[in-house]
Amino acid sequence: MNRNMGKKRQYLVTGGAGFIGSNFVRHLYESGEDVNVRVLDKLTYSGNILNLKDFEGQDGFEFIKGDICDEAVVAGAMKGVNVVVNFAAEVAVDRSIDDPKSFLRTDIIGVYTLLQEARQQPGLERFIQISTDEVYGHILEGSFHETSELKPRNPYAASKLGGERLAYSFFETYGVPVVITRASNNYGPQAYPEKVIPLFITNLVDGGQVPVFGEGRQIRDWLYVEDHCRAIRMLVDKGVNGEVYNVGGSQECENIALTRQLLAIMGKDERSIRFVQDRPGHDMRYSLDSAKLQELGWKPRYDLEKGLQKTVEWYLQNEAWWRPLKQALDPRYSKGFWGEKGVK
Ligand SMILES: NC(=O)c1ccc[n+]([C@@H]2O[C@H](COP(=O)([O-])OP(=O)(O)OC[C@H]3O[C@@H](n4cnc5c(N)ncnc54)[C@H](O)[C@@H]3O)[C@@H](O)[C@H]2O)c1
Repeated sequence: MNRNMGKKRQYLVTGGAGFIGSNFVRHLYESGEDVNVRVLDKLTYSGNILNLKDFEGQDGFEFIKGDICDEAVVAGAMKGVNVVVNFAAEVAVDRSIDDPKSFLRTDIIGVYTLLQEARQQPGLERFIQISTDEVYGHILEGSFHETSELKPRNPYAASKLGGERLAYSFFETYGVPVVITRASNNYGPQAYPEKVIPLFITNLVDGGQVPVFGEGRQIRDWLYVEDHCRAIRMLVDKGVNGEVYNVGGSQECENIALTRQLLAIMGKDERSIRFVQDRPGHDMRYSLDSAKLQELGWKPRYDLEKGLQKTVEWYLQNEAWWRPLKQALDPRYSKGFWGEKGVK
């Protein structure tokens, strides 16, 4: 990859006020690299300006509140940029089942708007499109490779696939230096409390129960957010344009086992579990083969036990961060969207 010698790299981190994006900004600053970071974020329900408060006033840090679908905003945000990392997206599967259109808008049209502007940027070295393992659909045995069939099973996953394939087409057609990542389920500090792990931790802090879909037999491959950020940063330098890289935590776990691990860390027992009706089209298992990324020198540093311990500690120490968000949660997405009917 070409680097302008001696020049600070200008990053544009879209969706940088969200969970993974804000951890990525922290990772950039903590890695010691001399960078300028511009965040573009619409601050939707999951975007939180507090996630960026540590960087306010830091040399070369800028925040722009705006929409990646807005051409004028994107044109301004893209000026002088060397590296784009696009985290901005509508993300939650349950919300996509309820309102697919907003997902098509941000996860496809938003990506298109960024790519169109990226084409005009002479100094652009890399455009990382953050996709997801959900584009593969689910797998009952074995693991997905980057060449596996793509069969998204919910509107969120289908929209993400639209966005990443569009990004690929801009590489082939216009030479935009696109690299695509497909990561497994992330967890760690600053995840919006509607997500399963922070939802469970904060419910348990309050002495409440945790809603487990169906019988909790679905399997997810958990990736600690810091490991994900290291992978993305490595791909800025070592990724090959036009290529896709799986980023899996190699920590497969049934939801019920994950729940029990959390209960144990927090000193709770089975009485804290409430089984709720399963989600329609619920993917049964995700599993990624990340050998392609590992060949570049990356491997996860966190196993699930260590990562969960750190995550629980963070939520225990940062109640002032999550309490107001928790109070404002939409009950449809945090109490078992598909009804209160227990299956057990
Ligand atoms: N969380 C996971 O487990 C996971 C796994 C694999 C991939 N991903 C991908 O990683 C990315 C980040 O996910 P996250 O979990 O941090 O989500 P998040 O919801 O915490 O963050 C998304 C951010 O994007 C912003 N945003 C949404 N629409 C926007 C728009 N139109 N314009 C500008 N900003 C907008 C939001 O305000 C928010 O700050 C997404 O692209 C997601 O598909 C997430």
